[in-house]
Amino acid sequence: MPAILEDVVSKLESGGFNNILFLVGAGISTSAGIPDFRTPGTGLYSNLTKYKLPYPEAIFQLSYFKKSPEPFFQLAREINPQKYNQPTLFHYFIAEIHKRYGVRRVYTQNIDTLERIAGGIPEDKIVEAHGSFANNKCIKCSADMSSERFNELLFKDKVVRCDKCKTGLVKPSIVFFGEQLPEKFFECWDEDVSKADLIVVAGTSLAVHPVAAIPEEVKEDQCTRVLINKEKVGSFGERENDLLLLGGADEMALKIARLCGFEDELLELQKKQKARSDDNDDDESEVSESEHSPEESDHRAPTTATKDEASVETEKEAEELADAIKDKLNI
Ligand code: OAD
Repeated sequence: MPAILEDVVSKLESGGFNNILFLVGAGISTSAGIPDFRTPGTGLYSNLTKYKLPYPEAIFQLSYFKKSPEPFFQLAREINPQKYNQPTLFHYFIAEIHKRYGVRRVYTQNIDTLERIAGGIPEDKIVEAHGSFANNKCIKCSADMSSERFNELLFKDKVVRCDKCKTGLVKPSIVFFGEQLPEKFFECWDEDVSKADLIVVAGTSLAVHPVAAIPEEVKEDQCTRVLINKEKVGSFGERENDLLLLGGADEMALKIARLCGFEDELLELQKKQKARSDDNDDDESEVSESEHSPEESDHRAPTTATKDEASVETEKEAEELADAIKDKLNI
């Protein structure tokens, strides 16, 4: 007998889960306008033909980057967190679950840092398993470069080179294929999987290891596994304690919030945060209009979400917006 949503919710509400894990991927950020990787047609890997890559994953391959860095930097311009800085309802849902019931860890494969931007989850509880755009290092002399400086050069030059050694390429701390995952991932792994009594896996194809092994390694007799995704992935459905919620991540978050009685709070939280970030955007655009000459801003990608992006209310609107953005960006 598979798990039933109402039973899982009532156990959650009665404090029956003490070690809750989230494992999330690109599907929780699509409603922020960021395409995922593997959805046929709209995923980034289906839209990379213009880079003339030998195979899609080459864009995240260190050996390829050293030889041909332009495609990665072009992609970095297109999916830069400066542009996509609005967390989705699902990001706020994770924060709200933590506030109410306590979350042990959030494993994210996303490089967009939206879990941090949404707030509400202490840093030690977030594992950015595939790194992020938050830090940048020269691959030759290892000198650090601030995000501000990296973005300045990224939107000005074709490739970003080190200010210190002048020749080395600067790479954000995104984990490329063949690179080691952050230490924090391995430090947390053992205890998290052995203690987990609820794992919520959302918006991921579970195609990339070792992250994909987490839901396989949680204990079958102890841990309820919930999948929130557009389609079934991994071994979900094979265990008695599995609950499959197939559909949009934001819609499923709302459904669970409704059952737990915090739907209104969740919507309110998202509204407040959006209003706050719209205010910040307005402030920043006033500053940037006065600081940058038209010539400068012409070749820079927009640095903040537009009003249209900020008013995304539904998954459908978000998908339309994502398509429009991709059209605009020609990806
Ligand atoms: P994928 O693109 O492989 O998978 C995204 C999953 O989310 C798919 O199963 C989609 O059907 C589902 N999905 C898309 N939109 C959704 C929505 N609104 N609601 C619910 N589900 C939705 O992305 P990841 O699994 O995150 O590595 O990819 C894993 C890694 O592969 C990434 O971290 C990336 C890539 O190579 C790096 O960035 C280094």
